[in-house]
Amino acid sequence: MAKSQMPDKSSESSEAIMTEMVLPQHTNALGTVFGGVVMSWVDIVAAICAERHSNKQVVTASVDAMEFLAPIKLGWIVTLKASVNYVWTTSMEIGVKVTAENPRTGEFFHTASAYVTMVALDSHGRPTAIPKVLPVGSEQQRRFDEAKFRRISRLELKKQNAERASQKEQAT
Ligand SMILES: CC(C)(COP(=O)(O)OP(=O)(O)OC[C@H]1O[C@@H](n2cnc3c(N)ncnc32)[C@H](O)[C@@H]1OP(=O)(O)O)[C@@H](O)C(=O)NCCC(=O)NCCS
Repeated sequence: MAKSQMPDKSSESSEAIMTEMVLPQHTNALGTVFGGVVMSWVDIVAAICAERHSNKQVVTASVDAMEFLAPIKLGWIVTLKASVNYVWTTSMEIGVKVTAENPRTGEFFHTASAYVTMVALDSHGRPTAIPKVLPVGSEQQRRFDEAKFRRISRLELKKQNAERASQKEQAT
């Protein structure tokens, strides 16, 4: 379907929620979760959300810098919530919020937030156009507005990395 014929889709229709229990295989010697495990969960929940929105196979193009705000301990429950913040042509920004819950005390901790750019692919594995997203609610509208600025930094970083790689290649 041509891009102009695709109806917009609401951000609500593709929201994804994933819940995990922290098991011994997820933890380091301190009994807290490895950052890489959380990053892998972030990638999965973002892909679920992106595939729901686009109805296409997706790949991860980039993940913005992630900061871990609080440790997550063995036996705790981790909830990851993903939503489509913005759609450009073939790519979309998925925002993921990670919350940890201590089931003994009922306390909740905001552990991390991540912005993942997913690209939709056609049946030949090439980037393909997808429907725009309509933000639902003031929080999603804020994410929608801010996503445009994040894209500028992200593509600037990509350009700088490509220039650095090319300079290195020329030097060898
Ligand atoms: C991501 C990928 C599909 C982009 O392909 P490409 O040939 O560079 O295609 P384009 O230049 O047309 O880019 C397609 C879209 O991705 C976006 N994009 C590409 N690299 C990006 C990056 N680093 N960050 C954010 N967006 C990016 C482009 O801006 C474009 O978006 P738009 O169509 O919405 O404007 C390709 O680089 C790829 O397959 N990478 C490997 C993905 C993968 O395997 N991920 C799993 C982890 S290894």
